[in-house]
Amino acid sequence: MAEQRARGLFITLEGGEGSGKSTQVKRLGARLDAAGHEVVLTREPGGSPGAEVIRELLVTGDPDRWDGMTEALLMFAARRDHVQRVIKPALGGGKIVISDRFADSSMAYQGYGHGLGRETIEQLYVTTLGDFRPDLTFIFDLPVDEGLKRANARGSNRFEGMDVAFHHRLRDGFLYIAKLEPERCHIIDASGTEDQVEDRLSAIVLKAIEAGNA
Ligand code: TYD
Repeated sequence: MAEQRARGLFITLEGGEGSGKSTQVKRLGARLDAAGHEVVLTREPGGSPGAEVIRELLVTGDPDRWDGMTEALLMFAARRDHVQRVIKPALGGGKIVISDRFADSSMAYQGYGHGLGRETIEQLYVTTLGDFRPDLTFIFDLPVDEGLKRANARGSNRFEGMDVAFHHRLRDGFLYIAKLEPERCHIIDASGTEDQVEDRLSAIVLKAIEAGNA
């Protein structure tokens, strides 16, 4: 059993459609679990009972069901509930929380994709979450056409119906976020095999765990 950490570790996986994040959330969770860590896997939008109800409103219906601002407000309402009721209590118990998407998705999708801009998203962030931040973020990067091909093969949600220019703004947005916060954000080339991506991710996470225990 690995030593219990005083404050857990909050890891988020981010990226465009079809980038393989969800598979890697599970793989990383299994690796850390096998190494004796207590792990909580979660996702956004959703992750708590209330936030899952909001998720349903967000991922179903026509692509233009919500305008960008309404969508952002729903995302942050869901996120606040998720953070308060699931993420913070787990971190307080020394657990490692791995979330399939978090607030960088709001910056990329609503901020850059829908054009709300950085400042609006940052204001919503501070108002709803204060200075709470992930410890480590992986940004899965993939050429837009490859991601959409993969996503279409598995069936689509509201967001995959957005036009191709939207998906280009998303990708550029995620890369810019990583550039602004290089200590927190690691860009992952998502075109590798699942095994390669898993190895790269877990090497970085294990190093961060070691540094936190030192
Ligand atoms: P999901 O089916 O979970 O997609 P994926 O497997 O690609 O993660 O649906 C979540 C969708 O919500 C996804 O298209 C991205 C979008 N989203 C935002 O637009 N803003 C956000 O803040 C979050 C968390 C997700």
